[in-house]
Amino acid sequence: MEIVPLSEAIGAEIRGLDLRQPQDAATVAAINDAWHEHIVLLFRGQALGLEEHTQFAGYFGEIGKHMRPKAIRNEAAELGPNVMLVSNIRENGKPIGSLPDGEMMFHSDTPYREQPDKATMLFAMEVPSVGGHTIFANSYMAAETLPEDVKRRLAGRKAVHVFEYGAVTKSGKFDRESAPHFAQPVFRKHPVTGRTALYVSELMTEEIVGLPEAESRELLDFLFAHQSQAQFCYEHVWQPDDLLIWDNRCSIHARTDFPSTERRKLRRLTVIDENPVMMGDPPGQTEVAAE
Ligand SMILES: [Fe+2]
Repeated sequence: MEIVPLSEAIGAEIRGLDLRQPQDAATVAAINDAWHEHIVLLFRGQALGLEEHTQFAGYFGEIGKHMRPKAIRNEAAELGPNVMLVSNIRENGKPIGSLPDGEMMFHSDTPYREQPDKATMLFAMEVPSVGGHTIFANSYMAAETLPEDVKRRLAGRKAVHVFEYGAVTKSGKFDRESAPHFAQPVFRKHPVTGRTALYVSELMTEEIVGLPEAESRELLDFLFAHQSQAQFCYEHVWQPDDLLIWDNRCSIHARTDFPSTERRKLRRLTVIDENPVMMGDPPGQTEVAAE
């Protein structure tokens, strides 16, 4: 097994494995170590069926359930409660999957739950000829490079994360009565690496608890611009049979736009976190090389 970094900031490609085969304990441990170090792992040319995809996801922990809106009758419903089909493909005018169209703002997955999923795996079945890329940003680096005064203002604070079904962009004020939401630490301690990540995102994070509205807004806008800088990112251009796994505890991801006339279809599984969310201390300053 060979580990090839995908960027200076985040991500590595793992070569030399056939994931249709069961992996031995030493290989599983090596993959987990590489994942904790690189946050995003890419495996190319893996023609995985659902069973093989599920087998591989199981090496990272217990597989999560996907909440599916009742309105969506889709191919994924037949794939069982764990699978989310991310697709813009329509049959009889209705999307067969979730999150169908266009661009999607930066977010991590399921932070609006008390116990967010630690990992998400996406397997590419059909990809458009242009666009529909996934951009990943390293949230440790985002935390480490914040100005000291911002770190002080955010130390010990929580922020509210909200889920608006199917939303890919902000749709204004959320409805506290109906939208699932949860207050999570702004600085999150990773249970394995012990490092602190910035745990907010433009799509999901609505407010910083305990601050006046204007100050909360100003700080969040600053954080959203800060965390999505190119120096913290890797942009993944999908090929069919790509498998990606990422760590939602220390990264955010976004989708670039793509033509609605092209087909895009990915199979998604998540992995439950065996640890509770932990508050982290603001990290020490890290030097960032000028570009
Ligand atoms: Fe996502």
